Amino acid sequence: MLGRKENRNLPPGPPGWPIIGNLMQLGPLPHRTMAGWCQKYGPLVYCRLGSTPTITASSPQMIRELLWTQDETFASRPRTTAGKLMAYHDQNVGLAPYDAHWKLMRRICVEHLLTTRRMEGFQKSRAEEARDLVQIMFKEAKAENTINMREHLGGYTMNVVTRMLIGKRYFGTESMGEKEATDFRELIHAAIVLHGVFYIPDHVPLLKWIDPNGYRRLFKKMGTRMDDYYSYIVEEHRKRQRNGEVVDGPKDFVDVLLGLAGENSELHLNDVEIKALIQDMVVGGTDTASFTMEWFMLEMIRNPKVMRKVQAELDSVLQKKATNKHLLEESDLASLDYLRAAVKETFRIHPVGGFLIPHESIRDTKVAGYHVPKGSLILINTHGLGRNAAVWDNVDEFRPERFLRPEDKVHLRDSEYRVIPFGSGKRACPGAQLGQSMLLLGLGRLLHGFDWFPPPGTSREDIDVMEAYGLTTPPRTPLRAVAKARLDQSFYSFH
Ligand code: HEM
Repeated sequence: MLGRKENRNLPPGPPGWPIIGNLMQLGPLPHRTMAGWCQKYGPLVYCRLGSTPTITASSPQMIRELLWTQDETFASRPRTTAGKLMAYHDQNVGLAPYDAHWKLMRRICVEHLLTTRRMEGFQKSRAEEARDLVQIMFKEAKAENTINMREHLGGYTMNVVTRMLIGKRYFGTESMGEKEATDFRELIHAAIVLHGVFYIPDHVPLLKWIDPNGYRRLFKKMGTRMDDYYSYIVEEHRKRQRNGEVVDGPKDFVDVLLGLAGENSELHLNDVEIKALIQDMVVGGTDTASFTMEWFMLEMIRNPKVMRKVQAELDSVLQKKATNKHLLEESDLASLDYLRAAVKETFRIHPVGGFLIPHESIRDTKVAGYHVPKGSLILINTHGLGRNAAVWDNVDEFRPERFLRPEDKVHLRDSEYRVIPFGSGKRACPGAQLGQSMLLLGLGRLLHGFDWFPPPGTSREDIDVMEAYGLTTPPRTPLRAVAKARLDQSFYSFH
């Protein structure tokens, strides 16, 4: 059994085996398994994945301690084979260890790409994408089709991100058609799933020479395929700049990165770093937002009373507008408290990943009186947090009202650490503002324009509410739905 040094006072946790520790006990949904451990052993659990000391936490108090009070101690990321082969040896922002390289990349991200000014500059393109989404749904509704929600929501978020990133809607090498866009989206999604895998040789160095399940080969193949796309984009932008081509509208992110500064500037990035940042934006900004939208729509269909309340709020706020009464715009979002509460409830019950991106501790420390060794893998259990019965009543009930407070507006970021959709502290999501605009605008327009139902021949009770595992956790069964237009025909041509 686990050879623990009793005198070090590690947090409690399940007993494990020599060499493999608790690796084989994780099951197909490790966040659920670990949430169960937290219920059994307490809010801070220690286990061992092979030789990796691992901590998981699922209470607001512990999470606050890890991500706020001791933020710097837990601000690193573990090195993984997936990161090495699919993310340029962890050179991107999301997976880089806490070092000078990460600080530079993050600074560029926050100060030059995801700035408020740039977000405002791309507001028009976000509105156009939301308009297109409504028009697609309108066509589907008129034809009485059963709609593949994942496909359309995925297209919406990908287009919003790529228009900022590369100045056009689709990634692609030649034709930039729908097919290539879908291929690229699937590639990114598959890579995100793979980043969530606990790859045994990362934890059991003895097994480095084998490749269980062929993952290493897959990481390599996917890494090369993604790199081909990013290389093409950088080259295409360079060619455009050499030819002196001028592009309409705000400068896209790749142009910003290429133009940042000369060879000797501290902001100069080499091509690998530029490609790693492109990947950060695509990986960070697409599945996260579209899966949240899918979960939200799933809960609206399961809870028609909530859907009607969201719609009533939208109708009332839009009717009071002096101009553009028929159209939800980003400037209206601040007035939509119930919509925000419903999105927050979606984050509680279906967080974008079962864990945040794994953190790693950079020094020995104490948490709640327990010893946490340097180099521990820190798995913040957002799934367990949202279902923690010590924090929430009726955990399985979808009830946005739990976030409404007469004296305060609803904020997606929760100052009490009860819901942490964007993480917190040094590694918090730098795209939170963009993510929120994308989500609220897209969802608001979908609910204002349509009523939503399960496909013919099925009922609300048939909807599968389980998640699939990966770094992000989408519905296990992609959502299919039927839309019925709820406004005058002229509304949809305005869009
Ligand atoms: C609804 C949308 C989004 C959600 C729910 C979300 C959520 C998250 C979460 C939970 C983390 C990890 C925090 C941690 O490990 O402590 C994260 C990190 C990150 N996100 Fe987002 N995100 C969203 C949108 C975006 C967008 C639009 C972008 C950029 C275009 C983005 C870029 C990133 C990056 C680069 C990181 C890594 C930060 C670091 O490690 O320093 N995200 N996000």
